[in-house]
Amino acid sequence: MAERLALLGGSPVRTTPFGPWPESGEPEARALERVLESHSWGGFPSPNVEARAFAEEFAAYVGTRHTALCANGTVAIQLALQAARVSPGAEVVVPAYTFVATAAAPAAGGMIPVFVDVEPDSYCIDPDALEAALTERTEAIVVVHLACSMADMDRIEEIARRRGLLLVEDCAHAHGARFRDRGAGSIGDLGTFSMQSTKLLTAGEGGAVTTDDDVLQQRLLSLANCGRKEPGYDGFPERMLGHNLRITEWQAAILREQLRRLPEQHERRTAAITRLTARLEAEVPGLRCLPEDPRITRRTHYQWILRYDAEAFAGVHRDRVLEALHAEGIPCSGRFYVPLSEDPLFAEDPLTNPAVRAGARFEGGRFPVTAQAAYHEAIWLPHEIFLGGDAAVDDVVAAFARIQQQAETLRHGAGQSAGSAAR
Ligand SMILES: Cc1ncc(COP(=O)(O)O)c(C=O)c1O
Repeated sequence: MAERLALLGGSPVRTTPFGPWPESGEPEARALERVLESHSWGGFPSPNVEARAFAEEFAAYVGTRHTALCANGTVAIQLALQAARVSPGAEVVVPAYTFVATAAAPAAGGMIPVFVDVEPDSYCIDPDALEAALTERTEAIVVVHLACSMADMDRIEEIARRRGLLLVEDCAHAHGARFRDRGAGSIGDLGTFSMQSTKLLTAGEGGAVTTDDDVLQQRLLSLANCGRKEPGYDGFPERMLGHNLRITEWQAAILREQLRRLPEQHERRTAAITRLTARLEAEVPGLRCLPEDPRITRRTHYQWILRYDAEAFAGVHRDRVLEALHAEGIPCSGRFYVPLSEDPLFAEDPLTNPAVRAGARFEGGRFPVTAQAAYHEAIWLPHEIFLGGDAAVDDVVAAFARIQQQAETLRHGAGQSAGSAAR
């Protein structure tokens, strides 16, 4: 007789947390001590010693000539658009399935984010829908390499070049990913990265912008340093109103050590995902991974997304399964993102949101693929699960299998969950 579901009073499959994330040790302790003893803790002069070194190391890792560091991934997008001189009032096309920052950053620069649906196989921006959304006011495209996917950079790069549009890659989820062996962040005109706590490369907070363009790099450095022009970034004609968005030496020193850990962590996650995929395929019908895209020559795993088929779970809604999974000790999320137009963080405040001032309409139902993923289909599993080796993967499989075996009970037991309302 199978163990009862933890949600219905049984013992959970897993009682110990996954992780810890981030991983750290002696190298990080030594790096912090180095900064402490330098008595130069801040981002000024900009870039400071650790920041300059990390920027070079990160540019080499991504495969660009330059990296400019900054405070976080939101302002990285803002800096990218401002350095490229995108006009206030211009339209910037972004996917509807992403974190609010992808849209809030252009809005903060007075630009108008225009949402576009995603493709069902990658959950990244749909090139056909993107092209249909372009107007004479469009100046830029921001793609997001989401979770464990990459956007179709063949098509999108071609569209951007043909239409003369700036192309920014939001790589907040994709440190180290590669498309046709080009690093995420090296394909568009600019790439932006977040080093916030949950990310694959983190200092708690932090951000970076990558580019091959010398003038963009100089403008980025100037904008992030209050508009100053210093030797090394005084070779462009304008004077721009900048901001203090400098990264501290603490963050840069930690990031240098975390970057050294990243390749091994990537190998560990890849091995775990390979095991998970094989076991789920064999043992738990109704859970599919997003299909592999052979053009992605290094797939990264900020979150691993499974597509859920309720038919294989006695018709139980995904959100109910996620409750059961949580109860079994497996961290997971369904509504990790909702269509941005329905995200409460995308406030329809005319004073702070230029899209609202410009009369954009956000009625529901315009992003069916995003809505299907957000409300019914996608199960997001965080990357720290996959640092735990075979035992961690086996717990995930055991939890799913237990839930599937008892799906009928789950359907009838303990009432309908608040989260299971279909949208
Ligand atoms: C897709 C995406 N873009 C941008 C950001 C913004 O990064 P940050 O939190 O460092 O400002 C995030 C962070 O969560 C993100 O997930």
